Amino acid sequence: MSEIHDVAVIGAGPGGYVAAIRCAQLGLSTVCIDDWKNAKGRPSLGGTCLNVGCIPSKALLESSENYYRAMHKFSAHGIKSEGTTIDVPVMISRKDRIVTTFTAGISSLFKKNKVKSLHGRGTLLQQDKSNHSWLIEVKNDGKTDTVNAKYVILATGSTPRQLPIAPVDNNLILDNTGALALSETPKSIGVIGAGVIGLEMGSVWRRLGSEVTILEAMPGFLMAADEQVAKEAYKIFSKEPGLNIQTGVKIKSIKTSKNTVSIDYHNADGQKQTLKVEKLIVAVGREPNSAGLNTAKNGLKLDERGFIDVDNHCRTNLSNVYAVGDVVRGPMLAHKASEEGVAVAEMIMAIEHGHSSIPEGINFNTVPWVIYTSPEIAWVGKNEKELKEAGVDYKVGQFPFIANGRARAIGEASGFVKVLADAQSDRVLGIHMIGPYVSELITEAVMAMEFSACSQDIASIIHAHPSLSEVMHEAALSVDNRALHI
Ligand code: FAD
Ligand code: NAI
Repeated sequence: MSEIHDVAVIGAGPGGYVAAIRCAQLGLSTVCIDDWKNAKGRPSLGGTCLNVGCIPSKALLESSENYYRAMHKFSAHGIKSEGTTIDVPVMISRKDRIVTTFTAGISSLFKKNKVKSLHGRGTLLQQDKSNHSWLIEVKNDGKTDTVNAKYVILATGSTPRQLPIAPVDNNLILDNTGALALSETPKSIGVIGAGVIGLEMGSVWRRLGSEVTILEAMPGFLMAADEQVAKEAYKIFSKEPGLNIQTGVKIKSIKTSKNTVSIDYHNADGQKQTLKVEKLIVAVGREPNSAGLNTAKNGLKLDERGFIDVDNHCRTNLSNVYAVGDVVRGPMLAHKASEEGVAVAEMIMAIEHGHSSIPEGINFNTVPWVIYTSPEIAWVGKNEKELKEAGVDYKVGQFPFIANGRARAIGEASGFVKVLADAQSDRVLGIHMIGPYVSELITEAVMAMEFSACSQDIASIIHAHPSLSEVMHEAALSVDNRALHI
């Protein structure tokens, strides 16, 4: 009989690898099975986030923003940058080095924490009736291994949703993997979907000189964001040279020739249009990796959209089997996946110790969202539309970056911070931002909401001067009409 591990984790993205590390830290013998191979065909831990998601996209956003600043913004500082060019292969190599450093870093963290790492495709078979452990088959290059574990954490993540009329070949029609690996700047790029990936990838290549056209099916823009933030973003983005965002479109057909993709679509007024581009990025959402989970045999329940069905504590319908991250309900975000991983590890430990109370599940209301465009967009909690729909009486405080000394010194002063607070209790219900580095500012908002703060709690905190965080301070003061610098 093979060794019975305490925990087997399937998937080493931010949900799975964090769950595995936390389990091991808690003293549980842990194995993590992952099948990701990089472009060189080598195993590479970290899942979508590290290999083709969060980290490489932010590396390219930074490079392209630096280039854009040198080309268009340095002159205002008196810096002459004539003759500036971009060497795309160097930029891509830098991104690849960052990815390799971080994916190798997960291997080191596994070694340090004594997590056993197995490369291969894991399939949950059945529970051994005699000892209740789960049997998992691991297939790798024709070899099959089996792993036994008392508890299983499924963290198999997600993959891009395909559009049948636009089959991805990562040559002319790209998904996120292809969009992060171009070897030169295309003259023109089409993007289907003005969601998070469409906007971030569109930003990278537009800043490097591509003419980018984003075609979005929904009638509005960034409909998940607060309406005022989405409006401000649209206003700023539509002034950007080289960026054209069209909403309410209907894609009719897509044809490719040797070097061109031709997209026939109807615009919002129902008029026939044709867009010809060198590359087309398809970014129309992601689907859970639940198809290969052997559900017909092991009885694992999926919901109607194909996500693994879990409760607030990430428990599936199978005993001692949990699921976390993109493969379950909730936002497809790395930090959400990791927090679920930690919560499940701690719950398993509580069960092992016979504790009757289990740790709390994730509070989805305080999961922050960030879109790394320029300016950045971030929010946490409820937006105005949601509060109105729920009939909540609320107050608004808002402050613009243009009145902030640090933002003016940096030269990035568009956007604002908006604080929404309960009209009676003053408790913060949501904070919405568009502006410079709001990816960093949002954490203060999350902290305030986690500690059930009132807007006047934020207003009473001393914020360093001059700093962008003063915009948050002034927005909180403004809930009570006490903003000082406007
Ligand atoms: P994944 O990261 O998808 O990892 C799942 C792993 O499981 C993969 O390695 C997969 O190969 C493996 N696997 C699947 N099935 C099996 C099997 N049967 N056996 C063995 N292994 C298996 N989120 C943010 O929060 N911030 C961002 O800035 C951000 N940027 C993004 C940019 C892009 C371009 C993309 C595509 C995504 C981005 N995301 C971002 C989303 C983020 O990457 C995901 O939410 C996150 O990776 C989900 O983590 P996960 O562990 O659930 O799954
Ligand atoms: P998304 O859900 O953010 O956006 C997809 C967009 O495509 C939507 O606006 C949708 O209306 C549109 N769409 C769908 N079908 C269409 C069609 N046929 N024609 C035109 N438009 C169509 O999905 P996206 O951008 O693929 O990203 C997937 C997920 O990855 C995000 O939801 C997010 O969870 C995660 N992510 C997070 C990032 C971050 O946190 N900064 C960055 C990138 C991705």
